[in-house]
Amino acid sequence: MKTISIIEKLEKNHTASREELVFLLDGITADEREILRKAAQKRALESFGNRVYIRGLIEISSVCKNDCLYCGLRRSNPNAVRYRLTREQILSCCETGRSLGFRTFVLQGGEDGYFTDEVMCGIVEEIKRRYPDCAVTLSLGERSEESLKRLRGAGADRYLLRHETADEAHYARLHPKEMSGAHRKSLLYTLKKLGYQTGAGFMVGSPYQTTENLADDLLFIKELSPQMCGIGPFIPHSDTVFRDFAQGSLEMTLTLLSVIRLMNPFILLPATTALGTIHPKGREMGILHGANVVMPNLSPKEHRKDYAIYDNKICTGDEAAECIKCLSGRMNAIGYRIVTDRGDYKGMQAQG
Ligand code: SAM
Ligand code: SF4
Ligand code: FES
Repeated sequence: MKTISIIEKLEKNHTASREELVFLLDGITADEREILRKAAQKRALESFGNRVYIRGLIEISSVCKNDCLYCGLRRSNPNAVRYRLTREQILSCCETGRSLGFRTFVLQGGEDGYFTDEVMCGIVEEIKRRYPDCAVTLSLGERSEESLKRLRGAGADRYLLRHETADEAHYARLHPKEMSGAHRKSLLYTLKKLGYQTGAGFMVGSPYQTTENLADDLLFIKELSPQMCGIGPFIPHSDTVFRDFAQGSLEMTLTLLSVIRLMNPFILLPATTALGTIHPKGREMGILHGANVVMPNLSPKEHRKDYAIYDNKICTGDEAAECIKCLSGRMNAIGYRIVTDRGDYKGMQAQG
């Protein structure tokens, strides 16, 4: 088996076997990684040109009833500062975002019981009423099918729910007993069935992760065929049980971005904040490895530092306008440009 022939296969057939993926991820050399990167960048340029889509991230609550072992917002972290934005604060973030050119708002938060279907549907309806040309993306963790249906009915267009790891045994080592990987995965199929543009994804280098786990993540993405895929390095949070684990590797995250791009030519693939946190040029590198989305922070400045899912998160002291300007400059510097259209999934049209 040769890495180069696996890369060629990924380019041509958009898939590879589990064994081939493991072989590639385990053994890829620096020279081969550059060949992979170039192929992924070429594929992204063919699909999107040099356009990078932006999504305005609004972190609506740091309250969470869950206890995911890796996350700083887990309920058993007594040091987490808990806040929740009011409906008016959320709408005001959207207003700022709209005037800065955003056409997608991502409302993300912990699983906070305050945001019932009634409250959330009211907020989504109002955003869609005020800004009918904008897409609303929700990332609020696991909700019942009925709840997801109501939110979709209220106008939510997209939903991000990372599967975190496709391997059930690995999932169980990262989560408390009451959470299950099978349930998480089945919710992703539910989201697709309900007509959401759906985003799955996983952490790179999470504790106990093996290369086989990563290959299974890649194959799960291929099978689910979501419109979006969010991946970023695991970064330890000092108030969690995983505080002493190493952070995910930059090289592995970039390699995976490239493989995901080749396997899913039209997928919306962000260069995440976590990637920008582990390296000052992480997001630029992500784009050059095949990513095509960035997600500047639109949350009110006074709460930024309290949405602390991992240590040393970037952009916690900056206004929305500063982040968008900064990211625009960063993208221009590598020959790309931020575009302000909604950036819906183009795969279906392209496939006819
Ligand atoms: N509560 C919702 C959920 O879990 O889907 C949305 C918010 S949650 C903070 C968003 C994502 O943050 C998770 O899907 C997880 O992949 C990521 N995350 C949490 N802790 C992390 C850590 N220590 N390092 C990197 N990513 C982390
Ligand atoms: Fe809550 Fe999401 Fe953090 Fe899990 S990852 S503890 S669900 S905010
Ligand atoms: Fe937030 Fe650079 S992207 S300050």
